Amino acid sequence: MRFTSLLAAATALLGTASAWTLTDNYQGNTFFDGFTFFTGPDPTHGTVQYVDRATAESQDLIAVGGDGVVIMKADMTNVTPNGRPSVRISSNKTYNSGLFILDVKHMPFGCGTWPAAWMVGPNWPAGGEIDVIEGVNTQGANQMTLHTSEGCTMDTGASSQTGNWITTNCYVNAPGQSSNQGCGVGDPSSNSYGDDFNANEGGVFATKWEPDSGIQIWFFPRGSIPGDISSGNPDPSSWGTPKADFPFTSCSSSYFSDMVYVFDLTFCGDWAGASGVYNSQYGCPSTCSDYVINNPTAFTEAYWAINYLKVYQQ
Ligand SMILES: *[C@@H]1O[C@H](CO)[C@@H](O)[C@H](O)[C@H]1NC(C)=O
Repeated sequence: MRFTSLLAAATALLGTASAWTLTDNYQGNTFFDGFTFFTGPDPTHGTVQYVDRATAESQDLIAVGGDGVVIMKADMTNVTPNGRPSVRISSNKTYNSGLFILDVKHMPFGCGTWPAAWMVGPNWPAGGEIDVIEGVNTQGANQMTLHTSEGCTMDTGASSQTGNWITTNCYVNAPGQSSNQGCGVGDPSSNSYGDDFNANEGGVFATKWEPDSGIQIWFFPRGSIPGDISSGNPDPSSWGTPKADFPFTSCSSSYFSDMVYVFDLTFCGDWAGASGVYNSQYGCPSTCSDYVINNPTAFTEAYWAINYLKVYQQ
C-alpha cells in the first residue's frame, strides 16, 4: 500500500473522509428563484388550476414570511368552477445522485387534497420518480414510492427499513399491481403525515440517492432532528435504519436520471378523487370535485410551509 492510500485509509477510519458538501440551498427570499412554475393541465387529472409565479404572488398563493418560512397554498377564498388554483414547481437544476434534506413545517391536508414532494426525470417513466412525501385526503401516515420503467423491482431481503412494503415492483405497469402503483413503503408513524405531522410542526425528510447503495429515505419529526443535520454537516451513517430502503440489487441507478425536485398540491384526480378512495376509504363528503370547487373554507389546511431544501453532494 502506498503512503497516499494509507493516508486515505487512515482518514476514512477517523471518519473525516467523504463528507457531504452543500451544493444547493433553497430557502427564504430566494427559494422560488431556483424553481419553474408548471402551468399545464395536471397530468394526474386533478380538480386544480396551476398558476404561474406572478399570479401566485398576486393571489397570495406563495409568500415568504418574516421568519423565512416559504408558503405555497391553494386558493382558500373563492368558489372555483375550473378547479382550485394551486402551485406546482420544479427545480431548474437536475440531479443524478445526492443527499436531499427537506425541512417542512406544515403540509397540505384534508378531504380532496393530494400533496407531494418528489423527484422526477424526463420522459416519464424513463427518468424515474421518487416520491418522498405523498398522500391523499385524510391519510394517516406518509407513503414513499418509486416509479420506473420495466425491470426495477425491490429485493426486500436486501432492504433494511422501519417502514412497511406496500408493493415491490417499481414498474408503472407491473402486473398484479394497480396502474402506476410503483414500489411503495408506508411509514408506520402518524407524525409523518397530515394533522399529526402538522401538530408537531413537521420535521425533516432526508433522501439519499447513490449509484452504489440505492435510495434511502429517513424522516425525523420535529424535536428529534439529528444535530448534524441542523448544523449543516449531515452524516447519514449516524442516522440509524431509514424509514424506506430501496436497494439497487434488482434495480439500478440507471432507472433514475436528470431528476428535478418538485412540490405540488393537486386535488381529486387519479388517486385522491377515485370514489373507492375519496368516499369509501376516507369517508369524505359529496363528490371530490364538487367539494373542492364549492367549499373554499374547507382548505385552510391546504398549504405547505417549508423551512428549506438543501442538496448535498459527495
Ligand atoms: C428558473 O427557470 C425559470 C423559468 O423556467 C426562470 O424564470 C428562472 O429565472 C430560473 N432561475 C434561475 C436561478 O435561473
